[in-house]
Amino acid sequence: MTSPFIYEEPVASDDLVGRAAELASLRDRTADARNSRLEGPRRFGKTSLLRTLLADAERDGAVPVEVNFLGCVTTADVAQRIERAYSRQLDGPLRRWFDGLVRTLQPTVSAAPGGVGVRARPQAGAPGLLDRLALPRRIHERTGRQCVIAFDEFQEVLRIDPALPGVFRSELETHGAAAAYVFSGSHPGMMRELFADRRHAFFAQASPVELGPLPPDALADHLAARFAQGRRDPGEALGPLLDAAEGHPQRAMLLAHHLYQQTPAGGTADVETWTRALALARREVDGEVTVVWDSCTGLERRVLRTIAHRTVALASRDAADRFGLAKSGSTPIAVERLVGDGHLMRDESSRSGWRLVDPFLAAWLRGEE
Ligand SMILES: Nc1ncnc2c1ncn2[C@@H]1O[C@H](COP(=O)(O)OP(=O)(O)O)[C@@H](O)[C@H]1O
Ligand SMILES: [Mg+2]
Repeated sequence: MTSPFIYEEPVASDDLVGRAAELASLRDRTADARNSRLEGPRRFGKTSLLRTLLADAERDGAVPVEVNFLGCVTTADVAQRIERAYSRQLDGPLRRWFDGLVRTLQPTVSAAPGGVGVRARPQAGAPGLLDRLALPRRIHERTGRQCVIAFDEFQEVLRIDPALPGVFRSELETHGAAAAYVFSGSHPGMMRELFADRRHAFFAQASPVELGPLPPDALADHLAARFAQGRRDPGEALGPLLDAAEGHPQRAMLLAHHLYQQTPAGGTADVETWTRALALARREVDGEVTVVWDSCTGLERRVLRTIAHRTVALASRDAADRFGLAKSGSTPIAVERLVGDGHLMRDESSRSGWRLVDPFLAAWLRGEE
């Protein structure tokens, strides 16, 4: 039997560990047609939680729509992504109505003057986009139902054109009871820029729901139960697994998957099983760790190594002696960049006040075998 642990795609609500409080808070807000933003590093379960929320909202009578903006590079892409999300996710009479309606909307791209190929409309003004953003209003007028809309990887919208969030705002502001929005993104820096900045007042009103690491007791319960369902016992590997995962949801599932695969049916994992599982998991993450490392400047690398060591403060003699991190005004700037990109998060129990988001990167930086 293959492992029941999913680590490469969002998980269904049955597999969701913890997050009850976060889900309840999102549900309360959406039920009142208030907007939220879901914050958390990559692979902390944002998309999984959004899908659970949307499934619950549908059961309560709302119309759920999930739009993922990852990969969009033009305003036309954004408009098309929204349109496609509706046509995939609406069903029954609403879908038939939508199929007709969509043909009356402004095109998302206009033909180039010579008729050769297509050309994106001027970025921010795109009327095709406004038409598509207005869809919840049309649905509400027609059915009286509220839409719950998840805009996932929303930082992409800001990346395309700094004026584009303004286009969203101008339409979304008018939705009142017709829709509740959850904005989610995996670039903490860009999300903060948009949602904490008073110049973007509309977005600043979307209250934050933050996803932190998963608590070890909830993880332990989940892993033990799933192993038991497959007639296996994580045995003495459970403790080291929880330590190695540091509450990182995807890393925990990746480790659990390999441990499960290494444990025979009817058997109990031991230290050797754990060693093999850890090596396999690390091998899988190798390429990713290298990509992060390659993308960092020399200063950022010294900052990461210092923080990974947990017991060294950033502006200390030790940091200078051991990791070449001289005391300098550039260090906080490097830290800020790494936080903005989702590589670092606050940790008051560490000497630097920070920790690496990815425990695998941290272990590699500490030179752990
Ligand atoms: N609450 C959770 N319980 C169990 N696994 C989780 C949880 N959150 C995330 N994961 C794991 O992380 C992986 C990525 O989840 P995903 O929802 O795609 O994260 P994000 O959207 O934040 O990048 C999943 O495949 C799963 O292994
Ligand atoms: Mg996601």
